[in-house]
Amino acid sequence: MHKHTAGFEYEVYESLSQLSPEDASLLVKARAVTESAYAPYSTFYVGAAALLENGEVVTGTNQENASFPAGICAERVALAAVSSLHPDIPIKTMAISYNGNGIPSDHPISPCGVCRQVLTEYEGRIGAPVRLVLGGLKGEIYIIPSASALLPLAFTSDELP
Ligand code: THU
Repeated sequence: MHKHTAGFEYEVYESLSQLSPEDASLLVKARAVTESAYAPYSTFYVGAAALLENGEVVTGTNQENASFPAGICAERVALAAVSSLHPDIPIKTMAISYNGNGIPSDHPISPCGVCRQVLTEYEGRIGAPVRLVLGGLKGEIYIIPSASALLPLAFTSDELP
């Protein structure tokens, strides 16, 4: 028997002013787009903004449904839009923000398990990492160099013929 360790490093910033102008601008877009989330059931409004290698930004918001399992997270809305509109242009960075629970959000959230799986599939397909910039409307900001780092020992297409 021997042991393996799975883990990753990420950067923690105190505020928007510490980010590069590109990352700051993307997080501002993710924060802004939370306003157009359709989340009447949870009242938890999530925004994702994907910066493509060609400089274009594609956004997504969570879209809920009276049939709760039919709802979809902001990250997957953004990923589906990117893959439909620009199937061959890699995402460089995705910023994710949110607001909810009646008070301005003050810490980062990270993607749910299903979104981690979909982000991992996207990285595999496109052959490049997706950097994540995670932040609330205020407070600390995390930068994760590759979304798939959030899903160690992932099940991937490598297992399928
Ligand atoms: N949600 C997202 O859009 N992204 C996440 O990373 C976590 C959760 C949404 C799903 C649902 O509409 C609401 O937030 C509450 O779970």
